[in-house]
Amino acid sequence: MAAKILDGKEVAAVVRADVKRRVDALRESRGVQPGLAAILVGEDPASIVYVRNKRRACEKVGIRSWLFELPSATPEENLLNVIDELNAEPEVHGILVQLPLPDHIDTRHVIERIAPKKDVDGFHPENYGLLASGRPRFVPCTPLGIQRILEHYEIPTSGKHVVIVGRSNLVGKPLGLLLLQRGKYADATVTICHSRTANLGAITRTADILVAAVGRPKLVTRDMVQPGSVVIDVGINRVDGQLVGDVDFPSVSEIAAAITPVPGGVGPMTVAMLLHNTVVAAERSVAKGE
Ligand code: GUN
Repeated sequence: MAAKILDGKEVAAVVRADVKRRVDALRESRGVQPGLAAILVGEDPASIVYVRNKRRACEKVGIRSWLFELPSATPEENLLNVIDELNAEPEVHGILVQLPLPDHIDTRHVIERIAPKKDVDGFHPENYGLLASGRPRFVPCTPLGIQRILEHYEIPTSGKHVVIVGRSNLVGKPLGLLLLQRGKYADATVTICHSRTANLGAITRTADILVAAVGRPKLVTRDMVQPGSVVIDVGINRVDGQLVGDVDFPSVSEIAAAITPVPGGVGPMTVAMLLHNTVVAAERSVAKGE
């Protein structure tokens, strides 16, 4: 039987509707409009598209957005100065520095310069540490979006074996931490695999929920998937002008119980959860009078 398609566009629309309600409520009750500042360094074509999509999504739900476009040769110090100014600007509730950055800029310095309370990407070590210690503040958008898809489709995770292929700081590692938390749509048994993992297929075949987040087209083939499992594809790869994931969709979708498509799966959720984190940042700043 063909797998159920987990429609990220549909879930993202539900999230956006919730965000819009909260944006309206903040405006009406406190006269505050949530604001997100995006910084783009250089002219990476994919990054330009991502940032444009994020800003459009902001507009649709009533979040104010600013874009700071800096040339690729911008010295690190100048970028850090822009971040300092945005940290001090009360109308900016969230700051997003689009990654990757040019080679001469140390990404760690940049991420660590963002005020943790405005770090809507959830990449600052303080927010990472809070997630790891079981008190999440801002959770990175892609892991949060994956959890939201599981919640929307009522896919239980408690006691389930979640196998994540990919150990990136943006997706694999924080997703593992998130699903390890105590609570609903968490409480999972988590295995994180990576490029040095021995017998990858033997491990992925034990997954109740298999997440592919490595950026290699068709890495996950049918023989690596347990029939009846749930497959989440985080990959965004361009092959011959087509967008494909990390999962060989045609063959895997024949045996999985449910699967996210590419495009239209996890991708739209990443943007939706950025809006979510931004309105949460604004709500917190109002509540604390910051
Ligand atoms: N580059 C790829 N994904 C992301 C993301 O989620 N946030 C930022 N800031 N840059 C990215």
